[in-house]
Amino acid sequence: MSVVELCREDEIAVVLVDNPPVNALKHEVRVGLTDAFSQARDDSAVAAIVLACAGRTFIAGADITEFDKLPKAPHLSEVIALMESIGKPIVAAIHGTALGGGFEIALGCHFRVAAPGARVGLPEIKLGLLPGAGGTQRLPRLIGVEKALPMILSGDPIPAKEALQYGAVDAILEGELAPAAVDFARRIVKEKWPLRRVRDMDEKLEAMRRNPGKFDELAATLSKRTRGLHAPAAAIEAVRWSLDVPFDDAEKRVRSAFQELRQGDQSKAQRYVFFAEREAAKIADVPPGVRPREIARAAVIGAGTMGGGIAMCFANAGIPVTLVETGQEALHRGLDIIARNYRNTVKRGGLAGDEMERRLARIQGVTDFAPVGEADIVIEAVFEEMDLKRRIFGDLDRIAKPDAVLASNTSYLDIDEIGASTQRPQAVVGMHFFSPANVMRLLEVVRGEKTAPETLATAMAVGRRIGKVPVVVGVCHGFVGNRMLRARGIEAERMLLEGALPQDVDGAIVEFGFPMGPFAMGDLAGLDVSWRMRKAQGLTAEIADRLCEAGRFGQKTSKGFYRYEAGSRTPRPDPEVEALIAEASARHGIARREIDKQEILERLIFPMINEGARILEEGIAARPSDIDVIWVYGYGWPVWRGGPMYYADRLGLATIREKLAEIAARSKDERLEPAALVTRLAAEGRGFGSLAEAARAGR
Ligand SMILES: NC(=O)c1ccc[n+]([C@@H]2O[C@H](COP(=O)([O-])OP(=O)(O)OC[C@H]3O[C@@H](n4cnc5c(N)ncnc54)[C@H](O)[C@@H]3O)[C@@H](O)[C@H]2O)c1
Repeated sequence: MSVVELCREDEIAVVLVDNPPVNALKHEVRVGLTDAFSQARDDSAVAAIVLACAGRTFIAGADITEFDKLPKAPHLSEVIALMESIGKPIVAAIHGTALGGGFEIALGCHFRVAAPGARVGLPEIKLGLLPGAGGTQRLPRLIGVEKALPMILSGDPIPAKEALQYGAVDAILEGELAPAAVDFARRIVKEKWPLRRVRDMDEKLEAMRRNPGKFDELAATLSKRTRGLHAPAAAIEAVRWSLDVPFDDAEKRVRSAFQELRQGDQSKAQRYVFFAEREAAKIADVPPGVRPREIARAAVIGAGTMGGGIAMCFANAGIPVTLVETGQEALHRGLDIIARNYRNTVKRGGLAGDEMERRLARIQGVTDFAPVGEADIVIEAVFEEMDLKRRIFGDLDRIAKPDAVLASNTSYLDIDEIGASTQRPQAVVGMHFFSPANVMRLLEVVRGEKTAPETLATAMAVGRRIGKVPVVVGVCHGFVGNRMLRARGIEAERMLLEGALPQDVDGAIVEFGFPMGPFAMGDLAGLDVSWRMRKAQGLTAEIADRLCEAGRFGQKTSKGFYRYEAGSRTPRPDPEVEALIAEASARHGIARREIDKQEILERLIFPMINEGARILEEGIAARPSDIDVIWVYGYGWPVWRGGPMYYADRLGLATIREKLAEIAARSKDERLEPAALVTRLAAEGRGFGSLAEAARAGR
């Protein structure tokens, strides 16, 4: 069967796209659309045309795999130009999602109708691109720059109701969409509605044309969080052209901007992360036929920093959740923080008041364990103490449903040991959320030695259902993310002793693209947390330990590696800290020297890459791309640099190997000697990426 069919119902032609799973705009679809629309145009019996899609969605975007190849005609903008020039009304019938090129096609139609649950958007920015087939020119004409620019720069789709308010769709039709759209087209013909070509609409641009300063203001506000990224700047320019460049010229410019971005390093890295995220969803060696269990109710043990956020994730996804605390006071504190979080979101306009009430109603706070017996999944988030966790899992074993998943949010502890405190270690799994748990997307799903495939599959599926990006990891101290973070932290501390200051180290990594550096992050998380952990393990970190001994726990005490003014979270360099560091250097007989940015970066990032290589050797992560997903979604690695393992491949593993050997010699630390995997791949002239290719090829 062809991917595009043309049929006729009396005077209405229906062009039906059927390219499962999401009707992506691969080359055959573009050819099919060109043929079908040309035929409908030339058929004098056709008075109007409906563009509809089979399956679960309208055209959900371009075929991203084609971005790595040379573009092949007909290009999408040519298909759209053909459609728009047809002198018969075309109605796009949108169900599911009309995204990217799919929404651009809809914008090339003369009318748009949507099913109630449909969403439309231009997510190109998330792949380091800009809408390349008219979106930057047509959307502002259709709904105004004030609405279009935020949509283009965020890449987030909007629901049909909002699209109707904005004028992005003309009607929301109940019932079966395609026949309703055909009726809509009949009405257009009967009532002789004038053709509406979006490219010719000007009205919504008038005000901003008269006052271009407004555009600059809007662009400046919206680009505050796009530091280092090329695509948002290009998209802003492109939308500006909608105001002051004729349509066809603007489109030409957009196409060349699109090609430049497509071939650039940033978009390549972002596309890599896009596929890496999908790849992470595939679990190695889970037998086919293993299905995740139904989750109708959850329970979370501990309503502290993490437990509260985790409970919110379930409530947000429509899953009722029981939140267990030791006493009324702790419970109220936890519930109050949750309510405050929701209220703040409502205040910022991110949530409707009645939706907040519905979500709050899904969270049931209790101080006894009995209601946990009704949950299909239990997530423990109490203090990081093995004895306590073992006791709780012992209790869960007695109370929880026979087929419930028992998960721990531990950051470092051994899941196997926790599992051994139950009679059902096969039901035990780690679900390591990141703080703030209701915001951060990453979820490390820790597979214990005895974790059953079904348990793992359930943890992954529920993770996705609550909006996370779950990645499977194995058991080791700190799993993948925190273990690599520790490698970075050790070297960061060393550089302080050798001559750098916290602001030098943090400054270099922020310039690289991270939202904050290791020391500002320590201050935010609380230095006492890692101090307590180090003490429990008999470890030290000279500078951080001394800060804690001086009562400097970070932001919570307004003093840590930096000082903080009342009510401010901005880290300010502190001469007291500088003196404390200089004194520590002197005590060790170290003559302080200037450490340049390049060295700082290499010493922060290369040890992480080395640890990542060991993690792969040990099978703690299944693929290099899983490690990249963890760093992008959990630790603020700049997405346009693809993740640490991807970055290593770009630099070349031979370079990494040599630099690591140098750093190891300087720091007198064996852990920094290049891992066997780095040495082997470098010698073979390969990168980490080749491991994934080899695995796919079955080698
Ligand atoms: N804070 C983080 O950034 C972070 C990130 C990832 C994972 N974790 C892990 O999450 C877990 C919780 O950390 P947190 O930061 O939320 O700690 P927290 O101290 O904020 O909260 C722990 C809560 O557990 C409650 N609790 C203790 N014993 C209990 C029991 N028997 N029954 C019910 N509740 C009990 C405490 O009253 C407290 O409210 C730890 O294992 C930690 O390692 C923390």
